[in-house]
Amino acid sequence: MQKLIIHGGKRLEGEVAVQGAKNSALPILSAAMLCTGESVLENCPELSDVYAACQILTSAGCRCQMQHHTVSIQADAIQNSEIPESLMQEMRSSIIFLGAMLGRTGSCVLGYPGGCELGPRPIDLHLQAFQKMGVRIREENGVLTCTAPNGLHGAKIHLQFPSVGATENIMLAAVLASGETVIANAAREPEIVDLAKYLKKCGACIAGEGSGKISIQGVKKLHGCTYRIMPDRIVTATWLAAAAVTGGTVRLLQADAASLEGILDVFEQMHCICSHTGDTICFSAGKPVRAVRSLKTMPYPGFPTDAQAIMTAVLCTANGTSMIEETIFENRFRHVDALVRMGADIQTAGRIAVIHGVRTLHGVPVSATDLRGGAALLVAGLGAEGETVLTEISHIDRGYDSPEKMLRQLGAEITRV
Ligand code: EPZ
Repeated sequence: MQKLIIHGGKRLEGEVAVQGAKNSALPILSAAMLCTGESVLENCPELSDVYAACQILTSAGCRCQMQHHTVSIQADAIQNSEIPESLMQEMRSSIIFLGAMLGRTGSCVLGYPGGCELGPRPIDLHLQAFQKMGVRIREENGVLTCTAPNGLHGAKIHLQFPSVGATENIMLAAVLASGETVIANAAREPEIVDLAKYLKKCGACIAGEGSGKISIQGVKKLHGCTYRIMPDRIVTATWLAAAAVTGGTVRLLQADAASLEGILDVFEQMHCICSHTGDTICFSAGKPVRAVRSLKTMPYPGFPTDAQAIMTAVLCTANGTSMIEETIFENRFRHVDALVRMGADIQTAGRIAVIHGVRTLHGVPVSATDLRGGAALLVAGLGAEGETVLTEISHIDRGYDSPEKMLRQLGAEITRV
């Protein structure tokens, strides 16, 4: 079992390049299955979730090769449209392959995606939309059998909640469907825009991505293309949080400040200094940062739920009291216990966390409970006095490509054993 050993308290300084976005790479890998000819995806992060996605493509009959952050996919011969049960359980977001398999073959058999550390992860919005597009869904002993005997057709779909996954899945099913699909109350995350840009480069007919209303005109065929995945905005936020908690000064390269809506202004409320030119973000923080009176996670362009745990770690040693409300997921404070063991003063009640800033945290052995909760403990360890031993880091490896290497470039004392 690997672990990360962190000797905290070092001011982070220097520059590092930001990896490609996991939450853009996954839906785009799925979209490649809709195309004939080869797709080459550049700036693809090397993560366990990406490897799992490549395994799903391979098991469906695609040729999928990954070398040095570039993945090439050949999807001419799709042999089957089944998502292996083991991979469904390994990665909840495998559900994103349902839309592409339906779009390409008109059928799909998959296991019900397990819940995950964040609480129940329903897919009712996905399934309701597919039914409107002509898909018949049978559920037996946790296996979903989806068929579209007359093919998929466009539909007007209103999402009760701007679900990222549901928006992506509908786009994947709609690009080759007959007729027009309109998604009202669609998610507006930058990863949705990245997926639409890739699909349009492959020949899809999409308008309105990034707004709350997306229109898709089905086409007959899509051809593969070469596409560069956007920078990961949550990894960017994580490195900024590491600089903030150590009072450091860093430059992040190959970043995309425009996608950091709702994150940079929170750092500015903490009295951090952020600026950007082109794809470089310059950031510096005094110590301690100022507390943030109230913060609420919201769908984009609000403050993203994926940055909540990471920000909580910074606010533990802020000057003053902060309050965070997690409105998206039911159970996304699992990192709080470990932060309290490190000396933080946090009370949670339901979806609210109140954080009273303390002078410093202290390194102790802690375990990651989920991807972003693990990243939060990594950030806390960098600012803490003493040694933090972080275990269960497979959670972190799902979303961060060589985190210890990146942080060592910024002067952190961190090793993986
Ligand atoms: C995506 O998950 C991201 N994952 C998550 O990032 C992110 O936290 C989330 O969007 C919100 O931004 C990927 O992109 C792979 P949702 P997704 O559908 O699509 C409810 C990370 O750390 N809901 O927008 O699963 C759901 O229960 C991960 O990188 C329904 O009720 O998120 C949740 O409360 C974690 N019914 C809320 O919507 C549905 O059919 C948000 O879910 C679908 C969702």
